[in-house]
Amino acid sequence: MTTPRTPETVSAKPDPALAAQAATSRESTSAAMTKAALTSEALENVDVRAREVEQQMTDDERFSLIVSLIGPVPSIGVPRDERIPKEVKNTSAGYTPGVPRLGIPALQSSDASMGVTNPGFRPHDKGATAFPSLVALGSSFNPKVVGEGGEAIAREARLRGFNVQLAGGCNLARDPRNGRNFEYFSEDPWHTAVLAAEQVNGIQSQGVISTLKHYTLNCNETNRHWLDAIIEPEAHRESDLLAFQIAIERSQPGSVMTAYNKINGEYASGNNHLLNEVLKSAWSYQGYVMSDWGAVPEWDYALKGLDQESGIQIDVKQWGDEAFTHRLRSAYAEGKLPKERLSDMVRRILRSLYAVGVDKQEPAPEVDMATHNEIALQGARQGVVLLKNDGVLPLDAGKPLKIAVIGGHAQEGVTSGTGSGAVLPVGGYAAQISIGGPGTMGAARKVVLYGPSPLSELKKALPKAQFEFDPGYTPAEAALMAKRSDIVIAFGIRVEGEGFDSADLSLPWGQDAVIDTVAAVNPNSIVVLETGNPSSMPWRDKVKAIVQAWYPGQAGAQAIAEILTGKVNPSGRLPITFPVDLAQTPRPELSGLGTPWKTSITIRYDEGAEVGYRWFAKKGENAMFAFGHGLSYTSFEYSDLKVSGDETITATFTVTNTGERDGADVPQLYLTEAAGDKRMRLLGFERVELKPGELRRITLTADPRLLARFDGKAGKWSIAEGTHQVAVAKSAADLVLTGDTRLSARRFGV
Ligand code: BGC
Repeated sequence: MTTPRTPETVSAKPDPALAAQAATSRESTSAAMTKAALTSEALENVDVRAREVEQQMTDDERFSLIVSLIGPVPSIGVPRDERIPKEVKNTSAGYTPGVPRLGIPALQSSDASMGVTNPGFRPHDKGATAFPSLVALGSSFNPKVVGEGGEAIAREARLRGFNVQLAGGCNLARDPRNGRNFEYFSEDPWHTAVLAAEQVNGIQSQGVISTLKHYTLNCNETNRHWLDAIIEPEAHRESDLLAFQIAIERSQPGSVMTAYNKINGEYASGNNHLLNEVLKSAWSYQGYVMSDWGAVPEWDYALKGLDQESGIQIDVKQWGDEAFTHRLRSAYAEGKLPKERLSDMVRRILRSLYAVGVDKQEPAPEVDMATHNEIALQGARQGVVLLKNDGVLPLDAGKPLKIAVIGGHAQEGVTSGTGSGAVLPVGGYAAQISIGGPGTMGAARKVVLYGPSPLSELKKALPKAQFEFDPGYTPAEAALMAKRSDIVIAFGIRVEGEGFDSADLSLPWGQDAVIDTVAAVNPNSIVVLETGNPSSMPWRDKVKAIVQAWYPGQAGAQAIAEILTGKVNPSGRLPITFPVDLAQTPRPELSGLGTPWKTSITIRYDEGAEVGYRWFAKKGENAMFAFGHGLSYTSFEYSDLKVSGDETITATFTVTNTGERDGADVPQLYLTEAAGDKRMRLLGFERVELKPGELRRITLTADPRLLARFDGKAGKWSIAEGTHQVAVAKSAADLVLTGDTRLSARRFGV
């Protein structure tokens, strides 16, 4: 029998004990802390409540909770499904009916990590804040700015009645061709985990469930539904899985979304090893696993660890049928799906709902869009990376310069990545141009431009300058204007997006040739890049400055202008290694690239855990711009390194602003050698804002898993006895202070 619960026993807001637990595990990442967090009273409360409510449900109610329906998307031919009740006005990626008699609210999920999206679901929606892409926020190395963005996204989601936000991109950027790297934070597990967790924490602090996605190895888009991602299991634990694991510990996401691809032969949504053995058993994950949209060919994925089938109409399009409706019901009737497993699926969903406080949401407060624009602006300011500066920047606002702004649609706006995560801003795009392409995502592939434009923001920031704009239509035409100008600011853009990998790292539409030509005729050329990945920059030695602006969101143009003119001192650092060329990367050729849609392909991630800068260190390759690199208009010095070791490594050092401007630095701590084994691992980082002459003592303590190797057979992490070398660095290729400490041999679980 169920005991009715009084309102006092269940908190209306996100459970404070849960919030405290997430905060504690954010401060400490040791396995012991995590275990303690999982036994907290608050967690037991939501477990008890989920169990009690689930027991009262009918099987029909149980089955209705384990699927979601996508709202109507005319552009991809998805009509409104009649199972979505008429009174549901705001639809989005997923609708799951509630059970009013038991106080279970309908679940309404929406994309994603750059803001609340609207690919046609809601014609009346006036638009949302378009925040910077995750790779841009990753460049901030600042969990705080990511967390504030998460809170803002959740407020805008709630306003529309959404209580599940499909944010929290947590895949590692393993390949610079991957069309979706802009939706991920970085190539490093620790950096990704810290930032992804903060996005989830920000979202969930507002009573909205967040996901971490796409579990796992969705590291290329080429034929993603037919892609088998091969990796050595131990290396997987030390890389992509470690990012998910730590992010889960630090944020307790209500849900984890599976990837489209296979991992070592099994589809992510039906991968018993990764879902049941790793996520739910080894890591004790208690939330629910949802599929990606169109990722569930079989009903028996329910037995393999999947708890909810998302956007079931997309599975019909993809695989010809829904999996968790009539097929799963038949399996249940035939005894192939045990009652206990069905209950477990439901309990996990309820538990997340209660833990985050979704069932107790008050009506959403009004949203202050000006404040949200400010948050987007902060993210963009901190995310822009100054890659090169031969003294031309910052531009002098006091001089009557003749400036040619060239290319990149810089007279209209800044561009974005495309696909399910692209946000329609308030007032619409400044412009959009269809690109198209094969596959279901071809229709979504467009140049979309967010206003205001870089040109107009530059005019504001440099009132004494005289501006001309050339579209970069041809090199010869652009050169005419470049010749008669004091300064050239050339914009290079590349639209990357869901469903597509780039064939190489060049800029499309001949932009490299335009930049090359203008740089040849004007010695003061500056290039601003709006891409989601590294580009080849064949002209890099000819230009005076290069600014990587990524997809900076709706406030991006302002941030770019402020950085070019020195109003804001650049502080972004690369979260992805920029190679000289693809030959330096683990896969000079991307297998399967160019095969027609629906071709089964295999990509071997043989670099294992040696992703990005780790690979470059292992191979002794010099990157074009290293992970962690980013210039400032001031200078910083590091001194007085003290390293201590016991259970893990702690390093303390001083950072001093030795220049003449206020600025922010991101000192990074790396492991460079572990008991004789050369091994590069980012152990920690901190963004510090310092005035000229100001210094700060910084202490960074490594998560011990970053010092260890994973032993798959024993299911344990193992730290080797011996001297461990570390470095305090400006980037993975610029190690400033070195030190070492001895660690004793240690094995530990989780
Ligand atoms: C994407 C997910 C997204 C989902 C729902 C899929 O195409 O891979 O990231 O959340 O669509 O829109």
